[in-house]
Amino acid sequence: MTLLRAQGLTAGYGPVTVLHEIDIEVNEGEIVVVLGANGAGKTTTMRAISGTIPRHGTIEFQGHSIQKAAADAIVRAGVAQVPQGRGTFPELSVQDNLLAGAYVRRDGSKAIGDDIRKWFSVFPRLEERATQRAGSLSGGEQQMLAIARALMSRPKLLLCDEPSMGLAPLITQELFNVIGRLNREEGLSVLLVEQNANLAMHMASRVYLLETGVIVASGSAAELSADDSIRKAYLGF
Ligand SMILES: Nc1ncnc2c1ncn2[C@@H]1O[C@H](COP(=O)(O)OP(=O)(O)OP(=O)(O)O)[C@@H](O)[C@H]1O
Ligand SMILES: [Mg+2]
Repeated sequence: MTLLRAQGLTAGYGPVTVLHEIDIEVNEGEIVVVLGANGAGKTTTMRAISGTIPRHGTIEFQGHSIQKAAADAIVRAGVAQVPQGRGTFPELSVQDNLLAGAYVRRDGSKAIGDDIRKWFSVFPRLEERATQRAGSLSGGEQQMLAIARALMSRPKLLLCDEPSMGLAPLITQELFNVIGRLNREEGLSVLLVEQNANLAMHMASRVYLLETGVIVASGSAAELSADDSIRKAYLGF
């Protein structure tokens, strides 16, 4: 079933149009990867979907239009965003960051407390640092916190913008393992922007290639890596 369907998605900043009528779909249970060079418009795509910048086009989530919905209503509908460059509140503790991620929920403090314990068991480093200021965590720990915080809203779709940025290979692998596990075990769908194309291709159900605000190719990881020019340009082998 189609979870997210964006058609003719156009967005930019002030007078500048960055995204030119792109079509993107995420089906239930998929990990969809967006690849593209610096400045191609990957972050802008995420922002346009999450409603954090003005956009045009048709955007449906679970068959309902979210085109006119405000950013908080989109979170409530089940779409959570992990922004590029660690989206945590640096002055709040780890625990309070997680609580802040649950702000759209209506299911009470017991369920929210259960979820905090759950994410602490997935990311034990965060539990050890529960009362520490988020700003004093290492880069990798902040990235884990940003993901855990987004998951506290119990999303159906996680928009994840370069989670590996600035992380050591082992931490990156650990983060990707967690994302893969959530996808398999909890049916979490993911729209993932990633510079590390080889790593991302391994877990991708489907891939979109974005070039200066236009989708230039899409397909399964196998289809795209079978194309010599795409492989050289985007995958570097
Ligand atoms: N807040 C902003 N105001 C004005 N222009 C912006 C803003 N954010 C991004 N842009 C411009 O939009 C274009 C696309 O940027 P975007 O951040 O979407 O690229 P990206 O594909 O995510 O790149 P990267 O891989 O470097 O993160 C760039 O030309 C950028 O300069
Ligand atoms: Mg970006």
